[in-house]
Amino acid sequence: MDHRRRALVRALGAGSTLALAGCGGGSGGDGGVPAGNPGTPNQPTAPDTPTPPSPEPEPPAPPNVRFLHGVASGDPLSTQVILWTRVTPEEDAVVTVTATVATDPAMTAVVAQYQAVASADGDYCVKVDATGLLPGRWYYYQFEVGQQRSPVGRTRTFPESWKATDRARFAVVSCSNFPNGYFSVYKAVADLGDLDFVLHLGDYIYEYGAGEYGDFPERVPDPPHEIVTREDYRRRHAQYKTDEDLQALHQQFPMIAIWDDHESANDSWHGGAENHDPLTEGVWQQRKSAAREVYFEWMPIRPREPGNTDIIYRRFHFGDLLDLTLLDTRLESRDEPLPAAAGSLDPNRNDPDRRLISEAQMDFLLAGLDNARGHWRFIGQQVMFAQLNILEIPGLTPDMKGQLLAVNMDQWDGYTADRDTILKHIEDNRIDNVVVLTGDIHTSWANELYRNPAVLVGDLFARPLAAEFVAPSVTSPGFPDGLAELASVALPVVNPHIRYTELKTHGFILVDVTRGRAQAEFHYVNSIEAYDLRGQINDRLTKVVAVESGSSRIKEDLPLSRPRTLRTALFHPPVEHNQEEVLS
Ligand SMILES: [Fe+2]
Repeated sequence: MDHRRRALVRALGAGSTLALAGCGGGSGGDGGVPAGNPGTPNQPTAPDTPTPPSPEPEPPAPPNVRFLHGVASGDPLSTQVILWTRVTPEEDAVVTVTATVATDPAMTAVVAQYQAVASADGDYCVKVDATGLLPGRWYYYQFEVGQQRSPVGRTRTFPESWKATDRARFAVVSCSNFPNGYFSVYKAVADLGDLDFVLHLGDYIYEYGAGEYGDFPERVPDPPHEIVTREDYRRRHAQYKTDEDLQALHQQFPMIAIWDDHESANDSWHGGAENHDPLTEGVWQQRKSAAREVYFEWMPIRPREPGNTDIIYRRFHFGDLLDLTLLDTRLESRDEPLPAAAGSLDPNRNDPDRRLISEAQMDFLLAGLDNARGHWRFIGQQVMFAQLNILEIPGLTPDMKGQLLAVNMDQWDGYTADRDTILKHIEDNRIDNVVVLTGDIHTSWANELYRNPAVLVGDLFARPLAAEFVAPSVTSPGFPDGLAELASVALPVVNPHIRYTELKTHGFILVDVTRGRAQAEFHYVNSIEAYDLRGQINDRLTKVVAVESGSSRIKEDLPLSRPRTLRTALFHPPVEHNQEEVLS
């Protein structure tokens, strides 16, 4: 018995959790170790000779597996967190996988162990909801099958929602199209070390075939055609999780993720998608179901209940400092986007019956705003919340306006009744400290939110009701050259509630939250094309904005926040782990 085994026995003897979990859900599956040969045939023995005890049946050797897709964790609560990996067996098998949680990266101080079963049914994904942990702690975790071990990951639990908490730091990322370049942004985030979690606002994968969206020669999508079937979605998720920078990110921090449109198909809504043709690609509901189920298999996300892949809107509490409500503005209830009308905005966007989120989801959001446990109320969601006045922008050609209109009808601007319900609720109930976090449009924005921000006749000189920070993309292209520069200058002229834009560079937002202010630090990388420049930040472009507690007025050009003294060892896991080692 090595020291790890002794530690485990001590931990389990002291009442630690031994949980069973299946793939793709929070429970289910037979986690028991195979019983082995139940007995051997009777052998004749001499009379008066004591029968020797039967030798213990040898359990069958565990199958040979590899851990090619890294490890991940996510959806941290105060005493539990989702742990994820995927095993690749040499041949089809049902694989019993053990997940170990420890308080040190060497995995010697073991506090709990869990078992799960991986099989072809769940694409050999392993998902464990590691319960029984202590609040507000960092942990390390590792999976093993026999002597074959995965890389070690680091994760944490959140402080309890009543616990006085003075600071949180997290990164916001979105839109990582594999064939557009290296995941340099993921490496930059993984290298930060001092974050509590990473918030991924969607477009974690893209559905397109080779050459359809991005043509970086070393990063051809797999499968090479547009993904439509369950098997297609599985292959695409698998390819993304072979990326070394994405693996490093997942190893370093827990992730809280929601899907956007490209996890299913471009501009998806509850009844279809712009990039779905029922005549050639089958029934949308089947494709949507496959995309959602595979997302739950491959992402470290907790289903509302086992097997429920329909609903991903949910809420997290980081001590008494912040609540984070995540919305699904895509697949649950969105009405079909309106077409971009040349030269005018379709008045149907103001139809009071037009829905971006369901009534149930709206109730969930508003109740969370009313009864917040945290000082700050963050809302993480997909599409831009602020109004974007396009038609009056000077200097834009009709073609440029057409491109912006097409974007705009997909955002809350195309669903104004739902937006106004939220803003009116904030206004009527005098709710403070609401910050919307947004992805989807591959560009950076800092917006003050008003019910009517139109110039002169609007309420721009009134108190803003909330703030919005829109994250740049990991690799997906922003505005084309020319339009990016022109729009950056022209947008604020007719949209003075938009306080900052950067419309073409790739990066992330570091959100640093204290009781006094919520600060958004926009960081950009030098390159997504050069392998050796991955993770390098272009300091010249860094932009810091913030809102202070009690005011949603955006302040600019503040000093960068300082990293904390870490409450855990800074852990840089080996990125290119040696597969021979894990094969033993
Ligand atoms: Fe995107």
